Order: sequence, then C-alpha cells, then structure tokens
Amino acid sequence: MTAPSTLTARPVSASLNGAVRASGDKSLRGAVRAPGDKSMSHRSLIFGGMAKGVTEIEGLLEGDDILATARAVEAFGAQVERLGEGHWRVKGQGGFRSPGVVIDCGNAGTGVRLLMGAAAGYELSATFDGDASLRKRPMKRVTGPLADMGARFDWNGAEDRVPLTLDGGGLKAIEYVQTVASAQIKSAILLAGLNAAGETVVVEPEKSRDHTERMLRAFGAMVDVTEEGEGWRIRLKGGQKLTGTAVAVPGDPSSAAFPLAAALIVPGSEVTVEGVMLNPQRTGLFDTWIEMGADLTISKRRVSGGEDVGDITARYSELKGVTVPQERAASMIDEYPILSAVAAYAQGRTVMRGIGEMRVKESDRISLMVAGLTACGVAVEEEAEGFIVTGGPVGGGATVATAHDHRIAMSHLILGLAAEAPVSVLDPEMIATSFPGFVELMNGLGAEIAS
Ligand code: S3P
Repeated sequence: MTAPSTLTARPVSASLNGAVRASGDKSLRGAVRAPGDKSMSHRSLIFGGMAKGVTEIEGLLEGDDILATARAVEAFGAQVERLGEGHWRVKGQGGFRSPGVVIDCGNAGTGVRLLMGAAAGYELSATFDGDASLRKRPMKRVTGPLADMGARFDWNGAEDRVPLTLDGGGLKAIEYVQTVASAQIKSAILLAGLNAAGETVVVEPEKSRDHTERMLRAFGAMVDVTEEGEGWRIRLKGGQKLTGTAVAVPGDPSSAAFPLAAALIVPGSEVTVEGVMLNPQRTGLFDTWIEMGADLTISKRRVSGGEDVGDITARYSELKGVTVPQERAASMIDEYPILSAVAAYAQGRTVMRGIGEMRVKESDRISLMVAGLTACGVAVEEEAEGFIVTGGPVGGGATVATAHDHRIAMSHLILGLAAEAPVSVLDPEMIATSFPGFVELMNGLGAEIAS
C-alpha cells in the first residue's frame, strides 16, 4: 500500500541540502510566529484517529514527524485530510484497526510511543519502525508497562528497539509509578488505559508536560489529576470513548526558543515570537533566561486551545551564567541544547545537571553539544548526567556534526550568528522534523544562514 497523496512528505527546502552556515553579527529585528506545537500536533492527530467523529485541527505543525503520525493514523483506519496550511481534518472510526502496512514513525519518539499506547488497547497487530535515530532509542520504557497491561510485543530485531510488532487488546488497568518524568511514557499508558478494564493510575514524582490530560478532556474523557508531592497522580477509567472536537494548536515554545535565543546573543536585536504556548510544564527555559538577566517580556496573554498563550519579545542582553535547578529539567528537557549555545555568550558558568535523559533523545544531545561547542572554542565540561558551559568570546569557524538531530543543528546555527567566524552544520535537512522554514524565518529577521 502506498501513502495517500495528501500525506506525503514535502520536498526538503533546497537551502537545506548539504552543509548550512550561519554567520553573524547583523542584528535581528521583527515579529514572527512559531510553528505549531509538536507535542500537541501529534496528540491532536492520534486522539482524532481514536475518536468517533470529526476532529478539525488549526495550526498543526507540518513537520516531518507530524506527517509521519498523520500517515500512521490513516493506516490505523481514520480518514485524514489536509484542508489548507496547518488546517487538517481527521474522521475517526472510534478505534484503530490492523494497519496492513508497517507504521513508519520516521524520527519521532513521541509519535511512536504515543501510537503504541493508543494501538495497544485495540484488537490489532501492528509493526512499528523508524529511521536510524529512532531505531537506537529505548522502547521498553513504554512496552514494559503496556505489556504489564496485557499487550504482547515481539522484537523484530534488537531488544528494546524498533522495529517491533505489537498485538493489542484485552488490556487490564495498572498503577504505574514513573521513575523518569516522561510525558511520553505517561501518555502511552493513559491512551492504552482508555481501552483497559479498570482504572489506570500514573503517579509522577515530578511533573511532566500535561497536554495529554488536557486534550483528553477536550475529547470528552474524564481524567482525574491531583497534586502529589512535587508531582501528580493521574487516574483514568477504562471504557471511555473519545468524541471528535476542534483543536487549535498554539506555537511551539521549543521552536520559539531559537529566534528568541538569537535576539539575546546578537547585539542590537529585538525579536517577538507571537502566539507561543506558555504551559508551565514547557517554560523552564524562559525562567532560566530571566534568571540569567535576559530582557524577555511576555504580552497579550490569552487562552487558546485550552492552553495559556502569549507573545514573547527578546532583546539583546548581557547575560550571566546560572545553575539550572534540576527539578526544572522536565519543563525544558528539549531546550538544553539552545540554552547551552546561549550560555556560551554569558559571563561565567552555566551548570546543567540531572539531565541524563538528554542522552536518549533524537541523539546523545549532551555529547553532541559538548563536541560542537568545543569545536567552536567554547569551554565545556561533560558529566555523565549533565554539562557545564563557561561563557566567553565564541571563535566559531567549525563544521559541526548533528547526527541528524534537528535541535542540535538549529542550536549550532544560532551559536554561529554571534560567533567570530561562521559555524556550519552537517545534515541540516532534519530541521524540517520540527521547524520547516527555519532558515527562511531566521533570514527574514536579518540572520545570515546559507549553504
Ligand atoms: C514529549 C515529551 C518529551 C520531549 C519530547 C516530546 C511529548 O519526552 O522530549 O520532545 O510530546 O510528550 P519525554 O517525556 O519522554 O521526556
């Protein structure tokens, strides 16, 4: 079976083939919109596919990760249609069926883990796979609890990795206490719990992003969340049906971070990113920047799609290094790469610890940032579960390996905008997984990023 035409991936922007180079010191000015939030985009498609009826989505991120999820949801039996830019319609049948094709999630850890959780609750068989990066990422953190609920998994290759085959259905609820603060694990269990006998409970010692809980309610499910210690206890009764709804996806704070970071480090800059989601489980980077002395202001606070949203303006700032509180890690786990690039321009040490999870993202992000920053002349100390950056003049003049990781590529390009010599990144095409049009958007603000 071939992928339906509306869901095939767009060709990669011509400017993103081969190596791309960022050079600097031209100030950045202007107002832009961040692409739609990646976490909410995955969820809106998956929940829409599980639901009965029509889900109409505005502001969907049209990045490669999300297009892979759209194709997966269609393969599981929903009708998925692109109506216009960011405007999509999903007609769900009220459940998933056996797909008959391999579910290829591309580069997307969120996509594969949430889809496995969703699919586990139905009587079906599905094989999940992904690209070379996804094939290296741990899956037992999700298949373990799903197997405890009654799902069956066969490793097609290496244990703990995709490709794997899932046989779903006949689940019973579990109580699961998280050992890492992971929204992906929590979400997979809750989605499976929708079709499990009994009440599923997830206890999080530390809070992770709660888009699943919020969006499940928008789809008509009852989810009970109570504070427990520093975290949450989440309870969800099995046998609940989802009903299609309208979803407005706000701008992704993890993507907004890049143009804002550029404004902070390039003298004379002022950049506004409009419509950024401000869910407290996602804004740890902005809190950290403010502690570093960043001139960051939030205006036009409003609620959109069940989430707090605002416009964020960043102006060039003389920053100082800080120690990032470890308990903040979950609220900015994807943002340490760009934080470390900004920290290279701050005075003194920025200490980032308690972030071992960074090593199992799209790449080993600690090791790649340490290597890239070091190659650019930045003083960095690597630890098993963290790293420390000491700011100072950034020489640049290096070509950096990205291991096909979008955030590693974008972080180094931003670093290059204020460096003494240009910074080049290899394999930049993966930027399209989360931020299609990144180069064009940055250059529209005055950056110089080119191949
Ligand atoms: C995500 C959760 C995070 C994050 C990822 C998106 C989500 O992963 O790194 O980019 O949408 O649930 P973990 O929750 O596993 O840390």
